[in-house]
Amino acid sequence: MENAAHILFIDDDPGSREGLTLLLEREGYQVEAVAAGEDALELLSRKSYDIIITDLFLPGMSGIDILKHVKEHSLPCNVILITGNATAETAVKAMKEGAFDYITKPLNFEKLKVLVAKAVEKSRLIAENLYLRQQLRGKYKFDNIIGNSPAIQQVFSRMEKILHTDSTVLILGKSGTGKELVARAIHFNGPRKEKPFIPINCGAIPADLLESELFGHMRGSFTGAVADKPGKFELANHGTIFLDEIGTMPLHLQMKLLRVLQEQETERVGSTRRTKLDVRVISATNADLEERVRHGQFREDLYYRLNVIPIPLPPLRERHEDVPLLAKHFLRKICMDMNRPILDLSQEALRALERYDWPGNVREMENAIERAVALTDGDIIDRQDLPPQIGGIPLDDTPMPIVQIPDEGLNMAGTIANIEQALIKQAMDKTSNVKARAAALLKINRTTLVEKIKRYGM
Ligand SMILES: Nc1ncnc2c1ncn2[C@@H]1O[C@H](COP(=O)(O)OP(=O)(O)OP(=O)(O)O)[C@@H](O)[C@H]1O
Ligand SMILES: [Mg+2]
Repeated sequence: MENAAHILFIDDDPGSREGLTLLLEREGYQVEAVAAGEDALELLSRKSYDIIITDLFLPGMSGIDILKHVKEHSLPCNVILITGNATAETAVKAMKEGAFDYITKPLNFEKLKVLVAKAVEKSRLIAENLYLRQQLRGKYKFDNIIGNSPAIQQVFSRMEKILHTDSTVLILGKSGTGKELVARAIHFNGPRKEKPFIPINCGAIPADLLESELFGHMRGSFTGAVADKPGKFELANHGTIFLDEIGTMPLHLQMKLLRVLQEQETERVGSTRRTKLDVRVISATNADLEERVRHGQFREDLYYRLNVIPIPLPPLRERHEDVPLLAKHFLRKICMDMNRPILDLSQEALRALERYDWPGNVREMENAIERAVALTDGDIIDRQDLPPQIGGIPLDDTPMPIVQIPDEGLNMAGTIANIEQALIKQAMDKTSNVKARAAALLKINRTTLVEKIKRYGM
């Protein structure tokens, strides 16, 4: 059942949760059942499902609320609603909100089976199309820049404002914060998108070669210049040049760069012929350019020329709310790239990710998830699959149920019951409420576990 479709089932009635789960599992689906819409949203925040089956009437959020959430967040899954009695009104409402279909109680399982199979197929197609579209566009689309935090939203709104201008942009951010991703998104979503995007990493090219890389050279203008060569600026004409790690540029080149930007003309080394330029300039740095200006390492006039529109990218530790989104995004992307079913993240793994400080920012997260996907044996990524500095982070609120007997004694049966409940809760958390796995963790039968859960009213 490698590729079993994931179904999330929401119903406040424990009997029907148990029953339908069994039936669907027998059909080969992987099912998680929860009692409340709120629990469903928590799961949806860190996992991907193909199908959601939900009762329309629930104590808290309703089935329609869940449907709306799915649509608002463009989750690639289909929603099937179960209604007590399909008044035309609720049915119409459900379909209008974008439900895949609805089915009335008492449930006809054969009918539901057909519906689920259809919905799974459609979800798969949608997910594949979405993925293919993103692949084709490459990494250049805004919706590939993941984040819901106010900090990243601010980045988006600034990007949108300057998309259709030619303003010079300076992207500021620590290593791995997404500087190049943002630069590409600006280019490929703007009017120059059909024209070249030419990146050049000023820090990676030896200083004596950088000049001819940027501006080109004529044959024979220096030893080794065996042919005429256009510079990156010429290549970027009518498009965008991305000057990465601009802070490392040597001073004498800074002067030449400033002149090119001001005159909007370039000449190759060893030539006097000038080429008119129409190039959008986006530069990026992880250095503190103002400080470099103060120390005389960066020309002040060039700094002002480049820093027309600054876009500061926040480090990941300042937008922790994006961590689950990013983790899920990379998990999906990496599994699809590796052509394997999409893995889940255990709650503990997610908590470790949320607690970590991310000095290497988003790039570090991408690498950590890729490593975890490669290392894990099961279909769930747990703490120990993460790099040790992340997975080993103490999650101090996991209580170990160890009991000291107080002087006045204790009620043994009651205490054992408490410990049992604590262990069951832990096991369910660890396995994202998949009872079969929780039971395996506790080395008891699934039926025993189900009985205990029922007895404790958990
Ligand atoms: N918000 C984001 N959503 C999705 N992916 C992201 C996001 N930010 C960064 N990434 C991914 O993280 C990786 C690092 O991003 P990028 O290369 O743009 O960072 P950078 O700031 O240029 O890093 P460096 O300073 O190391 O060059 C890339 O694979 C990029 O696609
Ligand atoms: Mg970069």
